[in-house]
Amino acid sequence: MLLARFIFDNLAANGYNIKVGRLARNDYRKEALFFMSATALIGAQWGDEGKGKTIDILAAKADMVVRAQGGSNAGHTVVYGDSTYKLRLIPSGILYPDTVCVVGNGTVISPAVILKEIDDLTSRGVSMKNLKIDARAHVIIPYHVEIDKLSELARGKEDIGTTKNGIGPCYMDKAERIGIRMCDLIKPDVFREKLKRNIEIKNKIITAVYGGEPVDFESTYKDYCEYAKRLAPFVTDTSVLVYNAIKAGKDVLFEGAQGTLLDLDVGTYPFVTSSHPTAGGFCEGSGIGPTLIDDVIGVGKAYTTRVGKGPFPTELDDETGDYIRRVGAEYGVTTGRARRCGWLDAVILKFSVRVNGLTKLAINKLDTLTGIKTLKICVAYEKNGETVYDFPTDISELEGCKPVYIDMPGWTEDITHAKSFDELPENAKAYIERVEKEVGCPVTMVGVGPDREQNLNR
Ligand code: GDP
Ligand code: IMO
Ligand code: MG
Repeated sequence: MLLARFIFDNLAANGYNIKVGRLARNDYRKEALFFMSATALIGAQWGDEGKGKTIDILAAKADMVVRAQGGSNAGHTVVYGDSTYKLRLIPSGILYPDTVCVVGNGTVISPAVILKEIDDLTSRGVSMKNLKIDARAHVIIPYHVEIDKLSELARGKEDIGTTKNGIGPCYMDKAERIGIRMCDLIKPDVFREKLKRNIEIKNKIITAVYGGEPVDFESTYKDYCEYAKRLAPFVTDTSVLVYNAIKAGKDVLFEGAQGTLLDLDVGTYPFVTSSHPTAGGFCEGSGIGPTLIDDVIGVGKAYTTRVGKGPFPTELDDETGDYIRRVGAEYGVTTGRARRCGWLDAVILKFSVRVNGLTKLAINKLDTLTGIKTLKICVAYEKNGETVYDFPTDISELEGCKPVYIDMPGWTEDITHAKSFDELPENAKAYIERVEKEVGCPVTMVGVGPDREQNLNR
C-alpha cells in the first residue's frame, strides 16, 4: 500500500491527471500496475540469442508486442510442438490471436518481405487483425538492396558481412532526410514524386560509382503501388497505441532485434547494424519516453555466436566450435550463413548490463553445452600484460585482447526435459550461478531446448 501511495504520488507530481483523494483501494492497484507493465527484451550479445523464443514465452501474458528497430535482417524463431515459425519483421507475439503487434516508427520495412510474411502466416491460420505498422517507418526500395550488395562488394576484404537486405542504405536515407516512409508509400502521388527523385540520384550512384544495373522506375512504382494497397489498412500512428496501452496498465513487451554489440553507437563499429538494438533504441523507435519502460531483460546464449565480420575474442576456430555449431544448429535464419561460435564472454554480458540497464537475464541454449567436458567462461581480457575488465570502445583495442578464462566442469545428462532449475545437474546449475555472479545480474530464465515449453523460470 505504501509503495502504491509512493507511486501514485510520483505520478501525480509528474503531471499525470490524477486527483488525490479520489482513488479507491483498487485504483491504487491499477496505478501500481500502470507502473509495472512495459518490459523491453534485448539481445545481449551479437544477435540470435533466442529472442523470438523468449518473447513468445513472455507474450503469452502480453497485450502488445512492439518491434522498434531493424528490419528483415532479423530472423526470430518460435517453436511449439511440431510448428516452427521464422519471423523477420512481424513481432513474435503474432501467434497469440489477441495480442496487438506493432511494427514501430524506428523500423525499416521491405513491403515485399512483410507481405510474404503476412501471406505465409495467414496461410498457416495466424490472424493479422492485430497487426499495426507505424506511418513513420521507412520503406526499403530495391535501390537500397542494390547499394547494400554493391557497397559490400566494393569493400572487398573489408566488407561488413551485412545481410544484404538494404538496411544500412535505408537508414542512410533516413539520416539524409530523403527517405520514403510508410505514410508516403500509401499516397500514390506523393510516393511517385519521391520515388522519381530518389531513383534518379540512386541510379547515378549505382551505375557511376559501383558500375551496377540501374533500378527501373515504372516497374518499381507499379509494384510498390500494389504493395501499398495491401499494407494501407495496417498503417497508423502506433506511438499513440503504445502509449495508451501502457497508460491503461496493459502488458507491453518490446521485442529487440539484433543485439547490443551490433548497436550503431556502442557496438563493435563498423561491424554493426545501422540501428539501435539497445534499450534506448526502444524509446526512439516506438515513440515513447524512457520512464515508461520498467524492466529491461537481456537475452543471451550459454555461449557466444556472431554472424558476419568483426572481432570476436572468445571465438573457437576448432572442434569445440564446430561441435557447438552442429549441436546448436547455428546457421542464420535469414541468410543461412554458418554462425561463428565461441565460449561465453562475461565481459560482453557485463557491458550489456551497463549500456542497457538490464534488470534480468534470460540464458538460452544451455542444452547445447551438454557433453562438453570442461566449459570456459571469459571473465576479463589480457592485453600487453594488463587485465582489461571493461569491453573496449574501439575495435582496434579489442583486437589483440586475449580472453582470461575460468574453467567450469561440464555435464553429460540430457537436460532438455528438465521442468525446473532444481532438476538440472549440479554442474549445469553451477554454470548458470557462476554466470550470474560474474555478470552481476540475476538469470531469471534458462532455455533447455527450442520449444516454448523448454524454459526454466527461476
Ligand atoms: P533470435 O534472432 O534472437 O530470435 O534467435 P534465432 O531464432 O535467430 O536463433 C536462435 C535459435 O536457437 C533458433 O533456432 C531457436 O529455435 C533456438 N533456440 C532458442 N532457445 C533455445 C534453447 O534454449 N535451446 C536450443 N537447443 N535451441 C534454442
Ligand atoms: P536477429 O534479430 C545476427 C549482422 C549482420 C552483419 C551486421 C550488419 O535475428 O538477432 P545489416 O544487414 O544489419 O546491415 O548487417 O549485422 N546482423 C545480425 N546478426 N542476428 C541478427 O538479427 C542480425 N541482423 C544483422 O550479419 O554482421
Ligand atoms: Mg536471429
